[in-house]
Amino acid sequence: MNEHLILAMAEYFAGDPKQVHHTVQVQTFAMVIAQEEKADEKTCKVLEAAAVAHDMGVKVVMELFGESSGTLQEELGPGIAEEFLRRLHCSEDVVQRAAWLVGHHHTYDNIKDLDHQILVEADFLANFYDEKMDMEQIRAAYKNIFKTETGKKLCHDLYGV
Ligand SMILES: [Fe+2]
Repeated sequence: MNEHLILAMAEYFAGDPKQVHHTVQVQTFAMVIAQEEKADEKTCKVLEAAAVAHDMGVKVVMELFGESSGTLQEELGPGIAEEFLRRLHCSEDVVQRAAWLVGHHHTYDNIKDLDHQILVEADFLANFYDEKMDMEQIRAAYKNIFKTETGKKLCHDLYGV
């Protein structure tokens, strides 16, 4: 585990404990799913980095536009993630792939790669709780989004779906 990533993320989101907690949850869920699904080492490294940086665009979008927009986050997030992860000495291939994932973590159609699938599932698992989603929303996400056995099991264990 790269604790420097978490500490730097907390510094980036200073004063916003909800976002720090959310990010920690997403990273933990992503790493658990990745390990259980036997993802290779590169995929685990990419997910560790992508999860930490996945919502960094939110802060800039809120500062610039005063509201949160998934589309704007996907546009502005990758550049912020790249700069952040490079500063923390992640390797360039990890930076590039993590930035791509940050730019696609609200894109749910046509998910082809395991790292993309896992990041989306981890973000949903955290958001079910953080955004107080109701059971109808959780069931819909479970049916339409979740594909990994580990992600599905976590949905089942946490929410009985
Ligand atoms: Fe998120």
